[in-house]
Amino acid sequence: MSFCDLKGKTVLVTGASSGIGMQAAISISKQGATLIISGRNKEKLAETLSLLAGDSHIMHSGDLTNDEDREELLQMLPELNGLVQCAGIVGPTPAKFIRQDDIKKMFGINYGVPVLLTASILQKKKLMKDASVVLMSSVVTRSPYFGGALYAGSKAAIEAYTKSLALELVDRGIRVNCLSPGLVNTPLITDPAKEANPEMVDDSLKRYIAKYPMGIGQPEDVANTIVFLLSDESKWISGANIDMGGVIR
Ligand SMILES: NC(=O)c1ccc[n+]([C@@H]2O[C@H](COP(=O)([O-])OP(=O)(O)OC[C@H]3O[C@@H](n4cnc5c(N)ncnc54)[C@H](OP(=O)(O)O)[C@@H]3O)[C@@H](O)[C@H]2O)c1
Repeated sequence: MSFCDLKGKTVLVTGASSGIGMQAAISISKQGATLIISGRNKEKLAETLSLLAGDSHIMHSGDLTNDEDREELLQMLPELNGLVQCAGIVGPTPAKFIRQDDIKKMFGINYGVPVLLTASILQKKKLMKDASVVLMSSVVTRSPYFGGALYAGSKAAIEAYTKSLALELVDRGIRVNCLSPGLVNTPLITDPAKEANPEMVDDSLKRYIAKYPMGIGQPEDVANTIVFLLSDESKWISGANIDMGGVIR
């Protein structure tokens, strides 16, 4: 058996149509697991599916903030050894301009979806004994950026949720951890920014990148840690929040 072997495990990855979730699904499949992948964009999700090692993987496309779409996904879920929740959004909104709808949107997907999906999976007894849950936070909870109040708030809530869930599930041998990466090179940081103002974005991205003496992350850097957290090699780790990205200036 190789290090971080996932053979025989079944894992759900949300946000698998792009960035970290896409790479996580690919890396997990290379370690031998069977996957259920979720995302909104059918074409991009099908592309991820085509890149997975092995067969028997399935995909479900839908908006997970929508109760019916979430229920549809739940109906097709087998029993899981791993639950990786990467679906999320970012949105720069200076504190002065935050509206009710912005709060609903940001917290709806970044906090509401992981919390509600986990609740339903537990109610339906689809999480096996010894399963591992991986959630996504961000270094922004400790290293703020301008306009990041809502995003950072939604991620701080996930960090608190991780610890509570880890406590509630510890007696069943289920582990719960979250990751707090710094800047990772995915469409999350490039696409929304480019739409807003391409020149300004190139400038501000360059300024952010300069903060990382070890360079910004690649999706593989995060996916490798997700694989580790799903594997039995991390069996003594739960309730943790793992910072990634090294020293940030
Ligand atoms: N990139 C970074 O610098 C960074 C740093 C720290 C933490 N993170 C966190 O890591 C996670 C993944 O980020 P990423 O960079 O990989 O982002 P990404 O490339 O933009 O991917 C986001 C994924 O979430 C899915 N998604 C968004 N809203 C959804 C909804 N309502 N229902 C279902 N799926 C939805 C997207 O689906 P579609 O594309 O199909 O719409 C996509 O698959 C996020 O939680 C993010 O906050 C990212």
